[in-house]
Amino acid sequence: IKALHSDYQKIQLEIYPQVDSTNTRAKVRAIEGAQHGHVILADEQTRGHGRFGRPFYSPKGEGLYMSLILRPQMHLSQSVYVTMQVAVLICRVLERLTHQAPSIKWVNDIYLGDKKVCGILTEAVTDFETGQVQYMILGIGLNVWNEEFPDELKQIATALTPLKTTRNEICAALLNEVLPISSSFSFDEEILVEYKRRSNVLGKTVEFVKNRAPIEGVAEDIDETGGLIVRLQNGEVETLHSGEVSIRRK
Ligand code: BTN
Repeated sequence: IKALHSDYQKIQLEIYPQVDSTNTRAKVRAIEGAQHGHVILADEQTRGHGRFGRPFYSPKGEGLYMSLILRPQMHLSQSVYVTMQVAVLICRVLERLTHQAPSIKWVNDIYLGDKKVCGILTEAVTDFETGQVQYMILGIGLNVWNEEFPDELKQIATALTPLKTTRNEICAALLNEVLPISSSFSFDEEILVEYKRRSNVLGKTVEFVKNRAPIEGVAEDIDETGGLIVRLQNGEVETLHSGEVSIRRK
């Protein structure tokens, strides 16, 4: 992998033909004491997963499956900025490579057109007493070469093909963006503005579940804590901090 940021010429890369999940492998490495910036890559994942334990389709040779071990100086409450900043940085890289404008589906999915091309899974282990982050695993799954998806994903997933870039180059580009800012992810107004500009949710009617009941409203804004502000049909405002929204297609 070439062109790494000069501060990180000595980062450790572990590359596996197959793992259960690079995030799971990274957690083991972190517990063993791996340094900030340690990277786990795999050609295939047998149990690649996203938020809520959902499977992340990870066939051999077709995607970039990568996890970074980070040891940022930050409090758990700031960890939302990691996902937001990384989503923006991934969009910048994909825009340079594809000359298309990727968009972000709140909170952590990157879309090309109306289909998901990339997912981000950040998992943090914190000090119980102080809430300080001890380490964080930043997992990125990007569909690169896939020409076909299983039936259940056909309508919702896409890949970068027929892009003429290698996974190595994409990986280097992503590391070059993420590593320089990864030791302290703090709130950055410019990132929030760009995150909102790239959002494919703002202005749309979205559905989410509250107290087990489906609710509908218009996504109006994203606040400084990453919360999605939704105006409900009765005029009330609800701020969502996690979970999932689906965009209603007319
Ligand atoms: C999501 O879609 O909710 C996030 C998907 C994140 C997938 C990546 S692939 C590399 C790393 N290993 C995993 O098991 N998950 C992340």
